[in-house]
Amino acid sequence: MKKAANKTNTSRPAERKKITTKTLTTMKERGEKIAALTAYDFLFAKYLEESGIDVILVGDSLGNVVQGNPTTLSVTLDEMIYHAKLVKKSIKTALMVVDLPFMSYHVDLKEAVRNCGRVMKETGCDAVKLEGGERIAEVVQHLVKIGIPVMGHLGLTPQSINIFGTYVTRGTEPEEANRIRKDAAILEQAGCFAVVLEKIPARLAKKITSSLKIPTIGIGAGIHCDGQILVTHDMLGMTELFRPRFVRRYLDIASLAKEAFTKYIRDVKEQKFPNKNESY
Ligand code: KIV
Repeated sequence: MKKAANKTNTSRPAERKKITTKTLTTMKERGEKIAALTAYDFLFAKYLEESGIDVILVGDSLGNVVQGNPTTLSVTLDEMIYHAKLVKKSIKTALMVVDLPFMSYHVDLKEAVRNCGRVMKETGCDAVKLEGGERIAEVVQHLVKIGIPVMGHLGLTPQSINIFGTYVTRGTEPEEANRIRKDAAILEQAGCFAVVLEKIPARLAKKITSSLKIPTIGIGAGIHCDGQILVTHDMLGMTELFRPRFVRRYLDIASLAKEAFTKYIRDVKEQKFPNKNESY
């Protein structure tokens, strides 16, 4: 007699719905944490998608981890678009956000709109991310009005590193903490759908998170944010020398890769690769 089909074995995994900017607001309302990571190419984006990530950011951190530059300042709009197009090929359900690089939204409103428009049209992403508070509020308002969703970014904003002069925690003094709180409110008012809070005290991030309707995504901003983001290369242990305490390392790819490369080199030198089965 034929056995009854085992339902759990034959049913397909539940398909995830596309995550939109509205989904993130709903997640905040429900108290469901948002998991975000960066990607700069097709394969990493594919693995993130298949792992169930909520948000994929094509960060201008590619200046550091892909291009090997000391800051993000030299990244161009064309480079962002190039990498975002690679990531887009793997996007199914994650919300895809692309960073606008330094000087691509600072000259005037017209140029900011033109550049954000290019990113949206040429990459097919869902939203853009801009750094800064009050000084970019007009740009944010305008972008949102014409249909471009904007994620904000406050605290230790890497594009302002030459003003800060150091990568220390921001908002530790009352004056700067108040400025960041005000900027967060201004960004929400201007129409941002979410805001990244980078390297600020957990206490400050908690206050901002509870004062906003839009979700906060923390990086070095403590547990109370509505979501968390890390640079993927950092959390995988690919960037060996960059070890701030907010980066939890889930793998040590640098060591694993070097071990594999060393074995391969030895096998080639000792004529152990390829063997018969690896030949035609
Ligand atoms: O560029 C980037 O990867 C970022 C995240 C660190 C938030 O802005």
